[in-house]
Amino acid sequence: MKSEIAGFYKLSIEERRNKIAEITGIVADEEGGFSESLNVEMADQMVENVVGVMGVPLGICTYLRVNGKDRLVPMAIEESSVIAAASNAAKLLRGGKGIIAETTKPIMIGQIQLMDVPDMELARSVILEAKEELLQQGATYTKLLVELGGGPVDIEVRELPSFGGDDPLGSMLIVHILVDVRDAMGANTVNTICEGLSSRLVELSGGRARLRILSNLADKRLVTVKGKVPFEAFCKKGQSLSFGEETAKGIEEASVFAERDPYRAATHNKGIMNGIDAVLMATGQDYRAVEAGVHAYASRSGRYTSLSKWRVQEGFLYGELSVPMALGIVGGITRIHPTVKQSFNILNLQYAHELAEITASVGLAQNLAALRALAMEGIQQGHMRLHARNIAIEAGASGELITIISEKMIASKQVNHEKARELLNK
Ligand code: MEV
Repeated sequence: MKSEIAGFYKLSIEERRNKIAEITGIVADEEGGFSESLNVEMADQMVENVVGVMGVPLGICTYLRVNGKDRLVPMAIEESSVIAAASNAAKLLRGGKGIIAETTKPIMIGQIQLMDVPDMELARSVILEAKEELLQQGATYTKLLVELGGGPVDIEVRELPSFGGDDPLGSMLIVHILVDVRDAMGANTVNTICEGLSSRLVELSGGRARLRILSNLADKRLVTVKGKVPFEAFCKKGQSLSFGEETAKGIEEASVFAERDPYRAATHNKGIMNGIDAVLMATGQDYRAVEAGVHAYASRSGRYTSLSKWRVQEGFLYGELSVPMALGIVGGITRIHPTVKQSFNILNLQYAHELAEITASVGLAQNLAALRALAMEGIQQGHMRLHARNIAIEAGASGELITIISEKMIASKQVNHEKARELLNK
């Protein structure tokens, strides 16, 4: 399969659908295809108090290449420029032979909070001595996962002392159950295991159990993606190589700014999450869980910093990004929501780690696109066309008037509602 589709953005919606269907072999308009979306009856089965369904644009990131394989990636997002930017940067990264991605095992952490433990050190050693028994008991709550090669794999014990000040409690003992969740996101399994093991942990520790829940800081389920861009890939026809070098240096300077400063790191990481969240949305993932994990991971040194790093070296710009990625290709709404099902048809994945690798790769590409724009021309130029189109639509324009009015607003350097209404009346 090829993800290089020149001029995809110039096609009509129908042509785009047919192109994706042709390349991936999916049926473009089967039930659960592009035109079918979630209906209100299905929505009513999913959550409470339903009154409707909310739509979000779904687009395709082109040009992405991960571990030697071309990937067309569905992205659901309301923000303009994100999908175009990811595709452009994916094309740049192809110049360095695409992105290399690696994942750790899919290990999730469950936490059991033990209070009023009479002897912390004794409880710790008793629990660790009973590790095998606890792991075996944990496995009985998730037989299917064990059959698939997953299940509880380790136990860790941590003492959390009182912070003092207005912290009203003494020490508490926290037991971590590490579970290999294979191709699921894992929340349900881990929560079941935590609840199942808590009474035995109470017996072993002599304390009492309070919370028994998964941790979203999935720092044992990491994905690392790396890519490089040759200086010449930054140059348009006729531009000298020094322009490419200047661009690469600008991106390195932007990267170090985010590495040093949490104010910048928050925005830098938001740009990465533009790409990641859009893939998570299109594939029906718990994006809140990933967001929570990613930002906690960005603070792991005790100081919030950037998730990615860009460096210039010998004619190339090198980029790297590491993020916790708790994603599932089974469970949740992955086999229920029609658009999500179609996203999975396009992606054609066998394992959850492939989805994690693709998602983080889109994050890396998104970050590259944002830093390139910010370091060179600024982002407003690119945003302005789509912003102007949105304003024209809000003012009541439709059909070809959207393009005419937005272009006239840009030409007159007056992109606002008043101007849009004036042009529309004309
Ligand atoms: C806007 O949605 C995202 C950016 O602010 C990211 C960044 O500043 O790196 C452009």
